[in-house]
Amino acid sequence: MCGIVGYNGKDKNTLHVLIDGLKALEYRGYDSAGIAYKNNGINIIKSVGKIDELEKKVDYNIKSNIGIGHTRWATHGSVNITNCHPHNVGDITIVHNGIIENFNSLKEELENKKYKFNTKTDTEVACALIDLFYNETKDIKKALVKFMDKVEGSYALGVIVKGDDNIYSVRKDSPLIVAKGDNGNFIASDTIAVSKYADSVMYLKENIIAEISSDNITLFDRDLNIVENDFKEIDKSINNTDKCGYDYYMLKEIHEQPKVFRDTVSSYLENGIDSLIDKMPDFTKYNRIDIVACGSAYHTGLVGKNLIEEFADIPVNVEVASEYRYKKNFYDDKTLVIVVSQSGETADTLAALRKAKGDNIDTLAIVNVEGSTMAREANILLKIKAGREIAVATTKAYSAQVAMLSLIALNLASAKGNIDKNEIKDILKDIKELPVKLENTILNPEYEKIANAIYENESVFFIGRGIDYALSMEGSLKLKEISYINSQAYAAGELKHGTISLIDEGTPVIGILTEDNLVLKTISNMEEVKSRGAVTIGITNNNIDSNFDYKIEIPKVHKLLQPLLTVIPLQLISYEVAKLRKCNIDQPKNLAKSVTVE
Ligand code: F6R
Repeated sequence: MCGIVGYNGKDKNTLHVLIDGLKALEYRGYDSAGIAYKNNGINIIKSVGKIDELEKKVDYNIKSNIGIGHTRWATHGSVNITNCHPHNVGDITIVHNGIIENFNSLKEELENKKYKFNTKTDTEVACALIDLFYNETKDIKKALVKFMDKVEGSYALGVIVKGDDNIYSVRKDSPLIVAKGDNGNFIASDTIAVSKYADSVMYLKENIIAEISSDNITLFDRDLNIVENDFKEIDKSINNTDKCGYDYYMLKEIHEQPKVFRDTVSSYLENGIDSLIDKMPDFTKYNRIDIVACGSAYHTGLVGKNLIEEFADIPVNVEVASEYRYKKNFYDDKTLVIVVSQSGETADTLAALRKAKGDNIDTLAIVNVEGSTMAREANILLKIKAGREIAVATTKAYSAQVAMLSLIALNLASAKGNIDKNEIKDILKDIKELPVKLENTILNPEYEKIANAIYENESVFFIGRGIDYALSMEGSLKLKEISYINSQAYAAGELKHGTISLIDEGTPVIGILTEDNLVLKTISNMEEVKSRGAVTIGITNNNIDSNFDYKIEIPKVHKLLQPLLTVIPLQLISYEVAKLRKCNIDQPKNLAKSVTVE
């Protein structure tokens, strides 16, 4: 999603800082980019496409000490140079992340005040509004307070003003950090954009105005009183973006999963099940759990539901965050709302968290990014240790989220006495051995063969029952997002109620068969599609005698851990298919890593 970077430096290195920052933000997904810098007035350079295209237009001989930059993921108006940020109106130049919801009525008001608009963007309207208030107040901070009072929606802004040597920032419902370095100070959507140059960072709070000069960052509340800041040292290890010999970050991240699993679970199990109970909150006080998330994180919720309901006997309701935030929720003081998010910044999930918290419901966040908004705002935080995930399509964060939900199910099952000592012993043994089993599963040479058999098809189906249905949904999403093949996931028994009409000669159907009591049922469903011409691919941990065209065998482990192995073939088949189709695997078209608008 859109990315912001800004620099106010003691040196004249602004163009390098901005381009480096925008390159570091590339992983978030974007369609165009631009910068504005001060040098004999304000200069703006924009480009559609990759940052390399923008860089070709930049003359590094030009020296400047103030600038702002932006990667755009179009929300209002198509992808073209005119709509690309920064936008300038009158004395004000801005970059913006978020959506100004009342921009149509604001635009009308501003047009009545003789403002003219060249673009279809909400950002140009925001820029004009700040210019109007600046002209009225002659004070940019007062203008920003008026702006905050007037606009509805979400925003993170970087603002430069003609004749003023500072950068100004405000934000609401969109992330923004401010950071300090030896040679100057910064703003950015993400620490990674400035971590090469800056040493300390803080997340800008809402309702605060940041004034960034070359040697200081001053924060003001809405009454323009100075407020305290709280900078933390930047962990420079995030600068390590080496692909370590892998062709794509996605492949590297798939291979990191054994380590991620170990890192995520080990601290909870130092002293076996006792430390798991000690180190997690007491879940037994809840009689209902709502898991709320988006995309793959939502799919982890579906896996969690299967495990928690089966092993802990608590009803779990899993909801897509963009729906949950607007619907009637049947929660009470015995409900725990769990939000799951890699970035901790996804706008809909954050809104769902705030809604539940606002209704005094206990909230727990399963989040990867340290210090993210959800990590800070939830009542309870369970941090997964996936490390930085760069590929837009999630793999290792998905696994780490599933691992954390499995631990919650194990914690509850054990606290409620639902599983006996012997079963716990078996689970702990499986946990210890899982990293090696993950490694072996990743190295299975069959995925390329299967990819070759399916990559030219226009559609692919995934089917499964129970927890395998939840995994089918993730397999299908992974394939469509990185290979652009139209794929659908179905509960295996549901296909014949309509969708089976889409099965033709050669249509690939990937069946997941790991649930002992359901395997024979899914085999029957695979037979039904095979007799209509489908190419059948079975992924199974069962020693079944089947008639599939292709079969991938994965190790069998305790059900609480099985999804972590089952997802590996799904990730790698998608990866191999996308490679054969020559897709941009790490940055699929139209997608963004951190979805900070609703
Ligand atoms: C798919 C994918 C997305 C994210 C979703 C939520 O591969 O990565 O579906 O899972 O956008 O993002 P987070 O987890 O950051 O809330």
